[in-house]
Amino acid sequence: MSDEATDDGRPDLGDVPAAPPAGETPLRTPMTEAGARVRTPDPLALVIFGGTGDLTRRKLMPALWALRADGLLPEGFAIVGNSREEIGEDDFRERMRGALAEFDEEPDADDWAGFSRRIRYVHGSTDDPGTFNRLKQVLEEVERDCGTQGNRMFYLALPPSVIAQTAQGLGRAGLVTGAKDPAWTRIIVEKPFGRDLESAQGLNASLLEVFRERQIFRIDHYLGKETLQNLLVFRFANTIWEPLWSRNYVDHVQITVAESVGVEGRAGYYDRSGALRDMIQSHLLQILTLVAMEPPASYDADSIRNEKVKVLQSIPLLQGDDIGRWAVRGRYGASGKGGEDDRGYLDEANVPEGSRTETYAAVRLTVDNWRWEGVPFYLRTGKKLAGKQSEVVIRFRPAPHPIRDLVHCDSPAPNALVLHIQPDEGMSLFFEAKEPGIRGPLRAVSMDFDYNRAFGVESPEAYQRLLLDAMLGDATLFARRDEVEAAWTLVTPILEAWEREGEPEEYPAESWGPRCADELLAQEGRSWHQPTG
Ligand code: BG6
Repeated sequence: MSDEATDDGRPDLGDVPAAPPAGETPLRTPMTEAGARVRTPDPLALVIFGGTGDLTRRKLMPALWALRADGLLPEGFAIVGNSREEIGEDDFRERMRGALAEFDEEPDADDWAGFSRRIRYVHGSTDDPGTFNRLKQVLEEVERDCGTQGNRMFYLALPPSVIAQTAQGLGRAGLVTGAKDPAWTRIIVEKPFGRDLESAQGLNASLLEVFRERQIFRIDHYLGKETLQNLLVFRFANTIWEPLWSRNYVDHVQITVAESVGVEGRAGYYDRSGALRDMIQSHLLQILTLVAMEPPASYDADSIRNEKVKVLQSIPLLQGDDIGRWAVRGRYGASGKGGEDDRGYLDEANVPEGSRTETYAAVRLTVDNWRWEGVPFYLRTGKKLAGKQSEVVIRFRPAPHPIRDLVHCDSPAPNALVLHIQPDEGMSLFFEAKEPGIRGPLRAVSMDFDYNRAFGVESPEAYQRLLLDAMLGDATLFARRDEVEAAWTLVTPILEAWEREGEPEEYPAESWGPRCADELLAQEGRSWHQPTG
């Protein structure tokens, strides 16, 4: 079925799967517990550029293997890997098996034998037209041998510098289907999507020379995380929060994505990026849009993304002196505890001398619309912090009238709703209770909800969900062109100001970040919520 054939780009439930390759057991037909058939994608060939790279080994192969185990891959399915490494097909298959053994589990020999027959490999650089010609030939072969019916999904697990040339190469080789073709083509592009507004616009323009917007899936893996998807359910499938979800009751919002790891050998990429580009432009602004957006008219991809874009467009740009006041940065130093790994950022391998790259960033933004006028959104993220904790804190306004006649307390702590994104997905509602005893003091207590405990299952990996959605043609959890550009519009003035002057403030590894981040909130008499756990 062509991508243009249905209103929302989703394949029909009634599609008949193609026959499996000769001699192979059919992939399991997925059923829910209630016995209903679960939607599986159209037959397709998945082409992975960067096929021998880290992302493919750590994330994509385990995700595909899990989808296979859940019966969510179509019968007509093939993987074609590409990289510049001159290795044979068997070698490539063996590496993929090794990736599963390393990052997932040792695959069962029979299952693997069946699956690996669907894996092909084409070596060659993406600036060489010969690579695309060979790819075309292999795609024709898998169409015949694996029943992929001409549908293709290109996954570009590649550095940003070669994304445009790869897309152009695909176009020139005639590998991209048009709107009227019976088969469909899609492209998945990994972040970083550009390094500022101008480069993101350039990248979008060159992709759009070859692909139509509805064929382009820009991945932000945070959108595949279970708690973020649940944020929409939490807000829009329950009535109790909505009356509270605005300036009338919310004092401010905090979004924290704290990592305990450092740059982990990625300094080559990271030093040209920094925390603002690497995390705030993408993951944290995505979280902000989900917290702040209006209920969409319907829950299709474009209605949801329209509302998210409106949020980004309602955020005033930080400019001039406001950048110094409302955006701060830091860089980790050693923790001082000693040991081989106790290194500051500047001493990490491949960090250039005199680097001014920040490993921590915090900003205060506002969303100037009817719902959020006057409510600050504080965003912070950093590496080598005291823990791996991502959460959204909705801090409510304090009670308007003291209850000192009833209990021994002048100022009860304001209520807070904490949405735990990772590692333990769930939420906690903090409220005040009186300790037992005559005129006993107040104490903050919490009502807690834990996803794993409630449902008794581990949440699927983000890439599992995202790969499946892209195969199904559902773009809800992928960033649209205007969304990406609106996010870059917000961070580019800060990046430019930081490039012009100043240095990140050093913070000790394993702390909660630089002092300037605490001062950012202290200016308004507030402080960061201390992540728990
Ligand atoms: C990536 C960043 O997008 O997200 C990394 O490039 C960061 O620097 C990672 O470590 C964090 O993802 P997660 O899922 O581990 O929170």
